[in-house]
Amino acid sequence: MCGIVGYTGKSQAAPILLDGLSKLEYRGYDSAGMAVFDGKKLRSEKTPGRLNALVEMTHDGELLPGTLGIGHTRWATHGKATKENAHPHFNAAGTVAVVHNGIIENYLSIRQRLEKKGYAFKSETDTETIAAMLDYYYEKDPIEAIIKVLHRVTGSYALGIIFTDHPGVLYAARKDSPLIVGKGRDGNYIASDVPAVLKYTRDVYYIRNEEIAKITGDEISFYNIDADPVTEELHTIEWDVNAADKGGYEFYMMKEMSEQPKVLRDTCDPRIKNGTIVFDELVKDEKIIKKASKLHIVACGSAYHAGISGKYVIEGMAGIPVEVELASEFRYRNPVYIPDEIVIAVSQSGETADTLAAIKEAKANGVPVWAIVNATGSSMTREADRTIYTYAGPEISVATTKAYSAQIAVFYMLAMMFAKTRGRLAPEREEEYIEDLKRLPEQVEFLLGNKERVQKFANRYIAAHDVYYIGRGIDYGIALEASLKLKEISYVHAEAYAAGELKHGTISLIEKNTLVTAIATQEELYDKTISNIVEVKSRGAFVMAVTNVGHSDIEENADFVIYIPSTNKYFANSLAIIPLQLFAYYVSAGRGYDVDHPRNLAKSVTVE
Ligand code: G6P
Repeated sequence: MCGIVGYTGKSQAAPILLDGLSKLEYRGYDSAGMAVFDGKKLRSEKTPGRLNALVEMTHDGELLPGTLGIGHTRWATHGKATKENAHPHFNAAGTVAVVHNGIIENYLSIRQRLEKKGYAFKSETDTETIAAMLDYYYEKDPIEAIIKVLHRVTGSYALGIIFTDHPGVLYAARKDSPLIVGKGRDGNYIASDVPAVLKYTRDVYYIRNEEIAKITGDEISFYNIDADPVTEELHTIEWDVNAADKGGYEFYMMKEMSEQPKVLRDTCDPRIKNGTIVFDELVKDEKIIKKASKLHIVACGSAYHAGISGKYVIEGMAGIPVEVELASEFRYRNPVYIPDEIVIAVSQSGETADTLAAIKEAKANGVPVWAIVNATGSSMTREADRTIYTYAGPEISVATTKAYSAQIAVFYMLAMMFAKTRGRLAPEREEEYIEDLKRLPEQVEFLLGNKERVQKFANRYIAAHDVYYIGRGIDYGIALEASLKLKEISYVHAEAYAAGELKHGTISLIEKNTLVTAIATQEELYDKTISNIVEVKSRGAFVMAVTNVGHSDIEENADFVIYIPSTNKYFANSLAIIPLQLFAYYVSAGRGYDVDHPRNLAKSVTVE
């Protein structure tokens, strides 16, 4: 969702803002704008559509001279994607400029009050209200005015602000929306995410909730909401610039799918110690782990699907009851907690508004919360009691692939850890699982190596209208994720069904040549799934099947088969998902879509 970049220093701001915004395009947006101050004049340009339009209309930024600036890519919430609604927003005198990510929930009542005091508004946005409020409360001290505004707004925000009375100073504040401060050599930066500043610096501060930053070219200071100065720790970003580049691939999604073997190694290897699984981040929770009565997984999107697979694996291996819930439901449901329950939040970005709210809800009820997170230093890592990092590196493509793979691998390891702690993991079993875990990267590599075959098949189905995915047990979890991949990037209607449920309605939609993808990796359920394949086949379906190597009998009923190398039943998810990610990718690319930026979707969903 919305991307923010800000700069103050010795260099021209506009080219830095445009470059930074291009690194945030992955977040999803439908208009862009920036404002630059040269000490005398505050100039601005905004436009609906892609960032390129802003690049062109400002002649690569040359038309907006100045060394202090804020830029924004907007994902429309309040009001359409028009020039008027694009950020930055200003006060009437044009002395205050604001960019904002998040939602100000009480903006309407504030706006009405300000209108009574004579303020007029040009846009439909909640953000313009902030610019007007800053104007209303500003006397001489920007920090004071910002604090007065923050005390009066509800909702979430990351803000970048310029006051023309204070040349060279960039102000920033945040609550429940991401914002970092980059400390550079020739100036300092703000951004919604690290890739925007990585070309200039690896040294970043993570602004805390309800904290304000005052930034000049050579100084960065932080204040809490009572205006007391606070100190923040400087973090060094470990990954390099190339990690957030396409590296020769046409789309980030292909690059990220190809990185999955490495991601699995990076996520699992540090946790395999002397033939057993050790989570250093959980050492203090030994008692909690031993006593755990139930695990409650909360997440959104693909992270939720990772949770569903996690449930099958943890319940199967460790015998602990697991509930998986969409964070957007959990947060408003008044969940009934049982003693010794652990809530596990799962998120690539660590910023998803609903998952963050779910963490807070559980914590407010005294429930221990672990967060499986990919983005270093993100909000969830600060809210949760423990953070279990997936080491997938920066993921840019909106449709997640490598972060999802890392999440399911973390669930395998958690399942093994719980099983061992509870005496349910025999040493020879543990050895076998560890061996399987270590083999996964090369097996994924093998499947990626056969991508041309999947591409050829996908080309036949480029014009598909409806695709159904069926599976049982863990295979149902895979089906959910595979169908989401297809629908989000190729706009083909895709649905996942627990194979046994198909005949309770959905089978009526199967007609001649409808593509049904059947996943059959679970040996004990294999025959049952075959029966379901036969059922759809006899109604004219064209069947693509994903099954374990050795099951060539499936070819009697399936039209196109992908065999996955052998592993244990719990880890098959990591292999079966690979050809299905590739299939979604090739359908999207074959249709000529912008695979990385699917319409209406955002990578990091920081609003409800
Ligand atoms: C968006 C993304 C999905 C992601 C979901 C949850 O919808 O497009 O790929 O699974 O958000 O995001 P999170 O960052 O919490 O994993």
